[in-house]
Amino acid sequence: MGEQRLDTGAVTIPATARRAAAEQAWTRWRPELAADTVAALGPAEGDAFLARADLNLYDVHEPLADLYGEAATELFPRALRAALAAAARRPEELRRLDRRREVDPGWFQRSRVQGYVCYVDRFCGTLDRLPGRLDHLAELGTTYLHLMPLLRPRPGENDGGYAVMDYRAVDPRLGTMADLEDVAAALHDRGMALCIDLVLNHTAREHPWARAWLAGDPARAGFYTAFPDRTMPDAYDATIPAVFPDRAPGSFSWVPEACGGAGGWVWTTFWPYQWDLDYTNPEVTLAMLGEITWLANRGVDVFRMDAVPFMWKRLGTSCQNQPEGHSLLQLLHALTRLAAPGVLFKAEAIVSPDDLVAYLGGHDRYRPECELAYHNQLMVLLWSSLATGDVRLARQALRRMRPVPPSATWVTYVRGHDDIGWAITDEDAAAVGLDAFAHRRFLNDFYAGRFPGSFARGALFQENEATGDARISGSAASLCGIEAALEAGDDAALDAGVRRLLLLYSVVHAHGGIPLLYMGDELALRNDAGYLEDPALAPDNRWMHRPPMDWDAAARRDDPATLEGRVFAGIRRLGEVRRSLLALRGGVESAVVDAGSDAVLVWRRKHPRSGTFVGLANFSAAPQAVDADTVTGFGGFEQVHGSDGVLPVRDGQLVVPGLGFAWFAEP
Ligand code: GLC
Ligand code: GLC
Repeated sequence: MGEQRLDTGAVTIPATARRAAAEQAWTRWRPELAADTVAALGPAEGDAFLARADLNLYDVHEPLADLYGEAATELFPRALRAALAAAARRPEELRRLDRRREVDPGWFQRSRVQGYVCYVDRFCGTLDRLPGRLDHLAELGTTYLHLMPLLRPRPGENDGGYAVMDYRAVDPRLGTMADLEDVAAALHDRGMALCIDLVLNHTAREHPWARAWLAGDPARAGFYTAFPDRTMPDAYDATIPAVFPDRAPGSFSWVPEACGGAGGWVWTTFWPYQWDLDYTNPEVTLAMLGEITWLANRGVDVFRMDAVPFMWKRLGTSCQNQPEGHSLLQLLHALTRLAAPGVLFKAEAIVSPDDLVAYLGGHDRYRPECELAYHNQLMVLLWSSLATGDVRLARQALRRMRPVPPSATWVTYVRGHDDIGWAITDEDAAAVGLDAFAHRRFLNDFYAGRFPGSFARGALFQENEATGDARISGSAASLCGIEAALEAGDDAALDAGVRRLLLLYSVVHAHGGIPLLYMGDELALRNDAGYLEDPALAPDNRWMHRPPMDWDAAARRDDPATLEGRVFAGIRRLGEVRRSLLALRGGVESAVVDAGSDAVLVWRRKHPRSGTFVGLANFSAAPQAVDADTVTGFGGFEQVHGSDGVLPVRDGQLVVPGLGFAWFAEP
């Protein structure tokens, strides 16, 4: 049975002592490891591995010591050897990719990097058909493909694939591991990177680790957490917000076979069939490292690290964003990059803006963690601004965020496969005269289509009667008003809906970070009610915004007279212009500027090798005047893109049409 370590708070060891301990361990182990490394990898690769180990020594040793105390002495050589073994098994083509990326460590920050996200079955049926669909992606400029969960899930309900029972097998509905390797190779041939989900907070209860743990197998002892009675579960639940209050309240599920057959409450943050791994046990950490490096060696370039805020628990807290959770990510990251230096981590941390930047390594001192993280805050603010036609909250909240370490960057997105949770802090809301709770409630009403005058056709997800909280489901096009306009046969409303969708995507393409296009948004696909016919999906309305790809609609993508043609051309053009602008590279911050209109988001960015870029997005339906000097005051700007051609300047004012956007850049 897993025992959750009792919480005493993080032990703080002075930095100098921590470093001395790391140096000591390295002095002790380096000679032996050096010999083995050269034997396993040959002199050139071996040297490179050792150089990486030298460089990342603190990133491996310090988190090990923080998390596991004394045991770090024994764990340190084991962890390094695990990384070495994975490096030795890395295929030649992937090593060449690693080499290129070590030469160009900022490869993922280039403005030509653009993402696309899809479900394999809903996009093309099976993995072996994916290489045949890459032209669609190439047309959009895609260089980064995130395939939604595809590892073997449990049978029956599986939370959209987030309940994995075998990390080394592909969902048989989609194909085989060999197919996935072929997909990776086909992507690499076309200069695209492959991203897949790594669900590491929990496994399916059918995973062999879970089965063995339940059966009392000593090799899996302590892999999960169970309590014999409600004392501890109640104590924890008192401060943990429920993720799925409607059908899975609380964070524990009763399992009659647990606790040696006496029955116990197993930690299940999400659905009852998703059992949380217990990372206070270093064997769990090493086992997960084994799965990550194994998958990396199949050709995965980026791991979307699922639900990372939840990985470490502490009594009396929300059990999210704990410092040890960060140490754990840093450790897995450093060890993975020892074995596969071209591989990146992307954090899925859908948390408050104050907690977000830490996942990119932005702590009091920089510590390498994930290279990428979802800019959940920008996403939320885009939808909030669209509902209110007002950007004051966005300006306030974006300005208050901590800067991102230069070696990391955001992934920026309009919509994903999950619900939208309104991560708006009380502090930001109050600063612009809003009550955060009331504003969240307004946004729910607005996007559920219940607010008078709302153009949106979404639905509430996980309405929690106890707290009054809820989140929103719905496809981007439907939330932007396209569905309602089509139903009403209202051309003006349709035009406004298209402008809204392109407006949001314009910000996402130019704010800084890798823009992600969510499958179907390029064709303005609306909500899909098909999920209601499948009993395993029906209770989860997130499926409404996971429609199958509509290839008939895609066939209209080059016809400017169609809805699909307009949206496709608009999104493709955003990518084209983006690629030409050095200022849109990652690694630098965007600064939000007030140019005299509370309806227009204005941001400015500059890369050391480029001139300044300024983006404008008018969230209101009416034209807005902004101060031209503030926007382009610093030299010879040229308008490089816009929704409505070149903007006129009148009396020192630039006039941005309703729901319009414009990009300016110094040559
Ligand atoms: C992630 C996924 C979400 C899933 C949860 C549990 O947040 O995005 O779809 O429900 O993890 O795995
Ligand atoms: C993930 C996200 C959360 C979302 C949930 C279910 O845990 O962090 O925001 O609501 O999945 O979709």
